[in-house]
Amino acid sequence: MSEKIPRHVAIIMDGNGRWARARDQPRVKGHEQGAEAVNRVTRACRARGVEVLTLYAFSEQNWRRPADEVTALMRLLLRYVRGQRREILDNNIRLTVLGDIDKLPLFVRAPLKALMKESAHNDGMILALALSYGGREELLRAVRAVAARAQRGELRAADIMEADFEAELFTAGWPDPDLLIRTSGEARISNFLLWQIAYTELYFTPIAWPDFDEAELDRAFEHYQGRQRRFGMTGAQIEAEGLIKAEETTL
Ligand code: FPP
Repeated sequence: MSEKIPRHVAIIMDGNGRWARARDQPRVKGHEQGAEAVNRVTRACRARGVEVLTLYAFSEQNWRRPADEVTALMRLLLRYVRGQRREILDNNIRLTVLGDIDKLPLFVRAPLKALMKESAHNDGMILALALSYGGREELLRAVRAVAARAQRGELRAADIMEADFEAELFTAGWPDPDLLIRTSGEARISNFLLWQIAYTELYFTPIAWPDFDEAELDRAFEHYQGRQRRFGMTGAQIEAEGLIKAEETTL
């Protein structure tokens, strides 16, 4: 792969259930294969120099799924934390969570928190699992925090800046996602990173998450590399800016 690797890749890992159904297998089999895809894609992103990989593993709304599926997903998460601990630490990856981690059952929350602590100083790549996560919930949480600061007299409502708000998001200090991938054919955002994806390139693929691999990731990166991100400006402005930047770096 050449230049322009996205710094932050976010993925909506969809299609585990359909993958399993197509093979006459229980849904949990699809999730198990989905966990294998998580490992493949994490390795591939680390190798390509991605700085942040954010995976939508369990939404706030997923609590509404049948209890046995929720339990199976929690068990799978525990197995993941135990099984991937060594690889995460050996590869200088920092594991972190976006979402209401306190809602997770203790049997998964405790080892998850322990690995987050153990890996906290790693700086090779951030692997962020969105668990019990919702974008609107994250926005509300940030609004409450900023409002509390205003109430304490730390800042005036009229002085609230984007940076004050961003500081209260789970993603504080990270670059916004450059590329958002959603697998399995749906073209929806499903309450994921609503603030952060304002200028993100979106990539939808029909491939089910359990089948997603390194080659599919490269395909998504190629799509990203072919896009021109304009951030509200014109193409000509971006090209001119690119020229200026190129001159600056060669001076
Ligand atoms: C969406 O597929 C997927 C999920 C709700 C769970 C994602 C979980 C994993 C990929 C595995 C576990 C994760 C980790 C980090 C170990 P779906 O079940 O909604 O599929 P469907 O739309 O085809 O029914």
